[in-house]
This record gives sequence, C-alpha cells and structure tokens, in this order.
Amino acid sequence: MYSLNNFDKQQFINQYWQKKPLVIKQGFDNFIDPLDEHDLAGLSQEPSVDSRIVSQTANTWQVSHGPFEDVNAHCLGAWSLLVQSVDHFVPEADQLMRAFDFIPHWRMDDLMVSFSNKDAGVGSHLDQYDVFIIQGKGSRRWQVGLPGNFNKINPHKDLAQISGFEPVIDQVLQPGDIIYIPANHPHNGVALEECLNYSVGFRAPSQQDMLSSLADFAIDNNLFNQRYTDKELAPREFSGEIKQQEVTRFKHMLQQLLETEQFSNWAAQFLSQSGEKQEFDEQDIQIFSHQDIVGKLKAGVPFVRCPAIKAVFLEQPLSNIEKIEDFMFYIQGEVFSVPLNDKELVLNFLNRPVFYLENNTLDQSSIFFTQLVTTMVNSGYWYPE
Ligand code: SIN
Ligand code: CO
Repeated sequence: MYSLNNFDKQQFINQYWQKKPLVIKQGFDNFIDPLDEHDLAGLSQEPSVDSRIVSQTANTWQVSHGPFEDVNAHCLGAWSLLVQSVDHFVPEADQLMRAFDFIPHWRMDDLMVSFSNKDAGVGSHLDQYDVFIIQGKGSRRWQVGLPGNFNKINPHKDLAQISGFEPVIDQVLQPGDIIYIPANHPHNGVALEECLNYSVGFRAPSQQDMLSSLADFAIDNNLFNQRYTDKELAPREFSGEIKQQEVTRFKHMLQQLLETEQFSNWAAQFLSQSGEKQEFDEQDIQIFSHQDIVGKLKAGVPFVRCPAIKAVFLEQPLSNIEKIEDFMFYIQGEVFSVPLNDKELVLNFLNRPVFYLENNTLDQSSIFFTQLVTTMVNSGYWYPE
C-alpha cells in the first residue's frame, strides 16, 4: 500500500491542481520501488507494451521504439528507457497509482515508468496533460517553468522539445519525493545518477475526442435521429442565404440532444474507456460456471481485479432518484447493471483490488451479484486466486 504523506488533498486542489507546479518532499515515506530496471527492460520486450528509448550522445538525440529484442543495443551515451501503462501489467505499480485516487478514475490515464542513467533525460518539453512524477531510486534534478511561448525544436522527428524557459522550480528529487507539473508547464528532468521515475498521467478529453466518440455512439445505438423542421419558412430573396435563425435552430437541435439521458449514458461509457484499451487474450481467460463461482465466493476465495480494469458509474441526479431501479456501471465502454438492492455489495466488489466475501456467507446477496461476478471473471476482468 502506498499512501501520501503530509498531503492535504483539498489544499492541493485549491492551490495547485491545474494551477501551479509543486514539489512534495517525502510525499511517500520510506519509498519502495514497485519494480526495478530489469523488470522494466523485460516489459519493453513485450509486443503489447508501448516503450521507447531516448538517448543522447554528444549533441545527437536518438529515439528507438519497442518492443526491443536487445535493450542494451539502444542504450548509448545518456539514455532513458520509458515504458507506458506499467500499471496494467504490474499490480504493485497499480497500487502506487491508487495513492492518487482522490482524483477520479476517469481522469487518470496511466503510469509511465522511466529508467535513466547519469545525465539522461528527454530534454525540455511541454506535456498537454497534468502529471505527478514520483522519484524512485536515485536522484534527478527537475526544473519547471510557467506557461509561455517557447521555441520549438525537434532534435529527432519523434522528440518535441522547447528552448529557453525560466525555471520557477529547480530542485533535486530524492526517493519518495513527488513533483506535480500542470499541463503546458515547461519542464526538464536530468538524472544525477541511475534513477527510476514514475509518472501518474491524467486525461483531459478534447471537444474533438468527445464529438467523435458521441458520433460513434449515436450510430452504434441508432440514436439522435430527429430531423430539422421549418413549418414557418419564409420565401427567400437570395436562395443561397442561410439565416442566423436557421443556425440557431441547429444549435437548439444539438442542445436538446445534450439534455437527454442517452447523452449521460454516452458520457459514462466514453469515460469508462481508458486511453489504451486493454485487450484480453481469450486463451488466457479461465472460464468458470456460475456454480463454481458461488462455491468459491462461499469458501471466501479472494477475487483479484486486473489492474487495467476501472469501473465508473454516474452520480444519480436527485430529481431522478425514485425512478431508478438498477445500478449501472461501465467497464471499458461496456454497460453492466444489477438491481439497486445489490449496489452496496457490487460497489464493494468493484472498488477493492482484492475482494472476498466476509463471513463467507451469501445469505444477504442475490443471484444477480453472483452472476455478475461470473461475467466479470469470464470476461477476464477479475480472477479467483
Ligand atoms: C521521464 O520520466 O523521463 C520523463 C517524464 C517527463 O518529463 O514527462
Ligand atoms: Co514531461
């Protein structure tokens, strides 16, 4: 378990979140790295893992993309191995991310882990997303500035750097220290010795992302089919003219769509999809009958949630509360529902990395719950230990 030390969540959000960079000294007490550079190198050899090596010799930058057959072959001069979504593959890395659960799941992206040798880094750059970077073993000097207009440089086609920012933070981070960097704040981290860094990244969907997903949702579910009408059309002097009032009607048609329940359902479905969809290899999934699952639950067997799995659900508007009969939640874009009576038990199941039935009794729980657990296990989202 990782938990934040000397950290006031509310104060952080009020003063820093999306506003200013911050160093949190010893945010984690006696920090233990959830993995080491050998584990990281092993992950970078897997075809399903997104990894790259950035290296600098003299003034030449190189970027190589994984999977790497021979990691060492790309490690020239000062180099960093960077691996995305490590939380999907290493349960201890997922536990590190869980220390930031005061920010909603849907807002979180992944845990990127980097290993750098002395003097290595990816150069000064901007990221479009907020990030907490945790210092693992070793030490690294971080400089962070404020947003501005910077010269863009591409020392390699896959490396977007900037030049000339004035740091407002210039500090050496030690194991357990954390630096928070809001989106679009220039930064540069240079390893002072061999070091590991863990970046908890956040998502911020753009209007374009939303529109494209909403259009797919409308087509897939045959929704939003209302057509334009104009009973009071006036004869037009210039037939090429589009009246402002007509554009306003377009806006109204779209605004109406935003007020529907279907729009909220789309939002929940959209936000349940992680940036990178985790594909489960069907061959790796062990299938259980409903009876097997009931037996295991009764026997107090722990059910482990796969680290990549995050369930989200909509807060119900108070005005609607009496009408609601089912508790709905979403995983990887798929909707699941159980009767409202089972909500507490299901939330318990969804929220814990490892679930087991307390008192080893199924008396108060319903068949809907056990069926749900069976579906989750047979989808590869949970597994009995
Ligand atoms: C790194 O861990 O090497 C890079 C993190 C960043 O600056 O975004
Ligand atoms: Co960055």
